[in-house]
Amino acid sequence: MLGVDAQHHCGSAGAAQMSQAQTMTASAERDSGPLVEAIDVKKHFPTAGLGRAVVKAVDGVSFEIFRGETLGLVGESGCGKSTLGRVVMQLHPATSGTIMFEGRDLTKMKGNTLRLVRKRMQIIFQDPYASLNPRMTIGDIVAEPLQNFGVNNKREREKRVHGVLKVCGLNPNFANRYPHEFSGGQRQRIGIARALVLTPSLVVCDEPISALDVSIQAQIVNLLEDLQHEFNLTYLFIAHDLSVVRHVSDRVAVMYLGKVVEIATSKDVYDTPLHPYTKVLLSSIPFTDPAPTDPAQGRDPLADQPAQRLPLPHPMPDRAVPDLLGG
Ligand SMILES: Nc1ncnc2c1ncn2[C@@H]1O[C@H](COP(=O)(O)OP(=O)(O)O)[C@@H](O)[C@H]1O
Ligand SMILES: [Mg+2]
Repeated sequence: MLGVDAQHHCGSAGAAQMSQAQTMTASAERDSGPLVEAIDVKKHFPTAGLGRAVVKAVDGVSFEIFRGETLGLVGESGCGKSTLGRVVMQLHPATSGTIMFEGRDLTKMKGNTLRLVRKRMQIIFQDPYASLNPRMTIGDIVAEPLQNFGVNNKREREKRVHGVLKVCGLNPNFANRYPHEFSGGQRQRIGIARALVLTPSLVVCDEPISALDVSIQAQIVNLLEDLQHEFNLTYLFIAHDLSVVRHVSDRVAVMYLGKVVEIATSKDVYDTPLHPYTKVLLSSIPFTDPAPTDPAQGRDPLADQPAQRLPLPHPMPDRAVPDLLGG
């Protein structure tokens, strides 16, 4: 865990005010400030056939990610996690708001300037197979970003690919094989190798283990943690699995209907959740402790209870679901 003196708060308005007050101009500040600073970021998608209605996938989100930190981003499916990750990387342009990266505002960058900054941020996807071109060898897949960024010397590319495959736990001698020849865990290692070959500072991990067998998940999490230490990486780690996020994150941001409703150290979020939605999410974590045994019955009284989600508290803070479609 990093010694991040993070504030524990609900909502994002306070963070936005604080962030705006911290104008970063000097390069020294640039290096010591947060790696990422999102200020009141919105991403609204137009909806087909519904006039001017929009889906407010991300709706006024502010947070910081400190250097070397892992910020976990949790929330149930459809709450806007992937959209937020993509907006941070400018894969989607933000509808409004500011995204500072290494002290510079990405939302004001265009063309080659943006392209060069993008080199410093990479993404790892949930489904490694879908994100790997089946007709390319893994050597070519991992070398492609190098080629895109002007590493024209073939031998240099091969050297770098060899090195990154090795640190990702893959046999460099398999560089001429195709993705289908690898297992799910190995394919995710290929995805990680491709993300790291340009030595980024920020890696957005979008549910990187959700599609993997449980037996493989821990290996990939451990690999990501080892790589973070070795290469001083900063992670935005997206997951719906709270137990995974708790394990890997220094701080956790809880997202609900396009908003970050709570952001705090991992320990605070889990030990003393403040927001009702965080409590609901925590209550849906499966039991990991041995269930208590009822001595009178001689059996586990929880064993017969079906897994269930607790109902959401009413009224939910901020807004209700129908507000997702608004003008
Ligand atoms: N390209 C898009 N066009 C329109 N709507 C989108 C697009 N991408 C995501 N959405 C919508 O935005 C909301 C958030 O989606 P997403 O960011 O994928 O959530 P999560 O990753 O938390 O499951 C969903 O309602 C989704 O349908
Ligand atoms: Mg997603």
